[in-house]
Amino acid sequence: MTDSPVLITGGAGFIGSNLVDALLARGVAVRVLDNLSTGKQGNLPRNPRLELIVGDVADPGCVRKAVRGCRAVVHLAAVASVQASVNDPVGTHKSNLIGTLNLCEAMREAGVHRVVYASSAAVYGNNGEGESIGEDTPKAPLTPYAADKLASEHYLDFYRRQHGLEPVIFRFFNVYGPRQDPSSPYSGVISIFTERARQGLPITVFGDGEQTRDFIYIGDLVDVLVRALMAGQVESGAMNVGLNRATTLNQLLVIIQDLLGGLPSVEYQPARSGDIRHSRADNSRLLARYPLSEPTGMREGLAKLMDLS
Ligand code: NAD
Ligand code: UD1
Repeated sequence: MTDSPVLITGGAGFIGSNLVDALLARGVAVRVLDNLSTGKQGNLPRNPRLELIVGDVADPGCVRKAVRGCRAVVHLAAVASVQASVNDPVGTHKSNLIGTLNLCEAMREAGVHRVVYASSAAVYGNNGEGESIGEDTPKAPLTPYAADKLASEHYLDFYRRQHGLEPVIFRFFNVYGPRQDPSSPYSGVISIFTERARQGLPITVFGDGEQTRDFIYIGDLVDVLVRALMAGQVESGAMNVGLNRATTLNQLLVIIQDLLGGLPSVEYQPARSGDIRHSRADNSRLLARYPLSEPTGMREGLAKLMDLS
């Protein structure tokens, strides 16, 4: 194995920092490029095999510097909040699409081929209503966030055909686990609910709580990411990353209540605009390529997250 690092853009964030730990544990050197907008230096361990570049993927010079000498890239840097993109389409576009293009260009120049990309179930919009969503389901990006993720997929595919890039495009469903930052109202719902439940603060559900999500524990996701990085060959086309299990927010609250032995008050407010109603992955393509031996169940994952296991 060469000693050149794997570059993780957005590596100081929730998913990125968990991936950093997994790669360092396998003896892989890591370079992180992160503007620390939602990520934190404190998420990263002190390790001589880890280098942090504080910078923006929207800055081509900075991306060029970060890519130079790397063996592969995992591109996670983005504004992950769907609602933030609704509020600020231009600002989020710089990170979520221009960042991807800058990365493609820098990789082409540097002759780096493998890139694992964090796309999203959001590209399907509401087309999965009630069914599990296969990759060929028509796309219906409802928000600037989803539009930028889908456009990024297309650009990566262009660079694959034109310049020999090896993109692995994963459409993550809803990921949860330690280090998911609960501090913004637009943070991932599990991080907000568990944090507020533990502090005894009121919980807000947007809508009737019967919307569903396919939640995957961070450890299971990281396992897939590492395997995709190390795989000899990769196929074109995107792959869903989810468990094909739907959980309503109301069910989620019942499990949290069970685990903590109580729950603060829960208030129901109108649904957020652009919010997706049902989301569940058909994960057969994923399982054929990267089998998940025993994915973490909701109860077990929530217990781990809240340090109760
Ligand atoms: P996160 O906010 O914790 O991580 C994103 C990281 O990117 C942060 O460290 C942030 O500081 C950094 N970043 C943002 N804009 C940047 C920029 N312009 N330049 C450099 N760094 C920048 O969120 P996360 O949940 O870890 O998400 C990681 C990736 O996975 C994102 O691309 C997100 O869209 C995608 N994704 C996440 C989920 C999920 O459920 N968490 C689901 C689907 C896709
Ligand atoms: C999440 C990810 C997004 C990813 C997508 C893939 C985050 C912040 N967002 O978006 O990056 O691309 O999954 O499927 O990680 N809700 C409440 N109360 C709250 C917070 C949220 O009721 O306090 C509701 C929301 O209105 C929504 C559901 O919970 O109906 C899930 O919201 P959220 O965790 O923000 O995830 P997604 O919008 O699905």
